[in-house]
Amino acid sequence: MKKDLDRLVDAARDAVCRAYAPYSRLGVGAAVLTTKGNIYTGVNVENASYGLTVCAERVAICTAVAREGPAMRLKALAVVSDQPGPCPPCGACRQVICEFGPEATVIFQGPDGLEETPITQLLPASFSLPSPS
Ligand code: THU
Repeated sequence: MKKDLDRLVDAARDAVCRAYAPYSRLGVGAAVLTTKGNIYTGVNVENASYGLTVCAERVAICTAVAREGPAMRLKALAVVSDQPGPCPPCGACRQVICEFGPEATVIFQGPDGLEETPITQLLPASFSLPSPS
């Protein structure tokens, strides 16, 4: 697993240079490891209509679904930026990570280097629909 997570961080770091971030100038790269053992990457893609921006984590997760189908599940996700300082997944991305990886490990750039934590710790009360009665 440790080796897998090292590969995942390398993939996220490698992706950053492909970010489209002309407005914030913060390039973000993400990589997901699926339960099938595949790695997919994503970058943030901004837009002149700022609200249309998509985060790197969600691009990586959507790519994984597009490649493996709706049963795709996450084992781990890594996210890094091209600037020093923390880059934890935003709240929206945490909710999407929960949907596909309720037990996923998340690795992100913290204030003093990489941090590794379960998604349940980053989003303890994720939203889910009530089961039909
Ligand atoms: N961003 C991500 O890619 N992931 C996050 O979890 C938070 C923010 C991007 C979106 C935007 O392009 C830039 O960082 C600044 O908000």
